[in-house]
Amino acid sequence: MTGANRGIGRALLAECLARDAARAYAAARRSEALEPVTAADPERVVPLVLDVTSPQAISAAVQAAPDVTVLVNNAGVVNLGHLIDMELDAVENVIRTNVLGPLRMVRAFAPVTEHNGGGAIVNVISIGAFGGTPGVGGYPASKAALNLMTQAFREDLVPRGITVHGVFPGPVETDMLAQALSSAPDLGTYPPTTPQEVARAILDGLERGDPEIFPDPISREIGEIWARDPKDVERRLTQMR
Ligand SMILES: NC(=O)c1ccc[n+]([C@@H]2O[C@H](COP(=O)([O-])OP(=O)(O)OC[C@H]3O[C@@H](n4cnc5c(N)ncnc54)[C@H](OP(=O)(O)O)[C@@H]3O)[C@@H](O)[C@H]2O)c1
Repeated sequence: MTGANRGIGRALLAECLARDAARAYAAARRSEALEPVTAADPERVVPLVLDVTSPQAISAAVQAAPDVTVLVNNAGVVNLGHLIDMELDAVENVIRTNVLGPLRMVRAFAPVTEHNGGGAIVNVISIGAFGGTPGVGGYPASKAALNLMTQAFREDLVPRGITVHGVFPGPVETDMLAQALSSAPDLGTYPPTTPQEVARAILDGLERGDPEIFPDPISREIGEIWARDPKDVERRLTQMR
């Protein structure tokens, strides 16, 4: 589980443990951020210091976690601003983290999972993948890229015994949402869901084998509209300021 120290990742980790996961690797950028996470269940939670933008850290994680069968690419960032004039460095950081991070993680852990007899890859995307909300910079583009990468991984990995799942949350009560609301206040017109509710719905979807998981009421609504009229979703999301 990447980004396991807070937000959706932390709730997902807790839910995996509640559902009797034998062991969970909690990955985060800073070891001190993992202390409260491992303290909750030191027998089963193994801390891993992992920045998903670092190829060296990912190689070290593969060595440290050889029995992985489920990889959750949850870590992500948002940077605020409009693509037309914001700092390009900020956009590059979003792409490095939200696109290249999961790409490197899947490339590194697919052989591990296959070697362990198969398993699953879960990519936490966003309903933002379906429309370019202007105030949140490169975030929607990064999530659209992750969505299409998820589809490509599925074709390559299902024959190798690895199921691939895309998760499309709507607004969830985390630090990231608070940050996004400061630039795109219209997002606040949707009532947010708690990370715990979202975590439960993600694991329910994984257990059912759903390729696409819409884990909250807003995401389910957007998913249904998108299935019949993608332009309508584009209109709703791009017109948010
Ligand atoms: N909240 C929402 O409304 C919402 C909606 C749709 C999708 N999502 C997606 O859900 C996922 C989790 O978001 P959240 O809301 O839980 O956000 P959050 O509370 O801001 O947590 C983000 C997590 O990602 C980690 N992270 C960021 N950059 C990283 C890197 N380079 N390497 C490793 N870890 C890194 C953070 O670590 P640090 O503590 O070190 O910063 C933190 O653990 C993200 O992919 C996000 O895009 C969120």
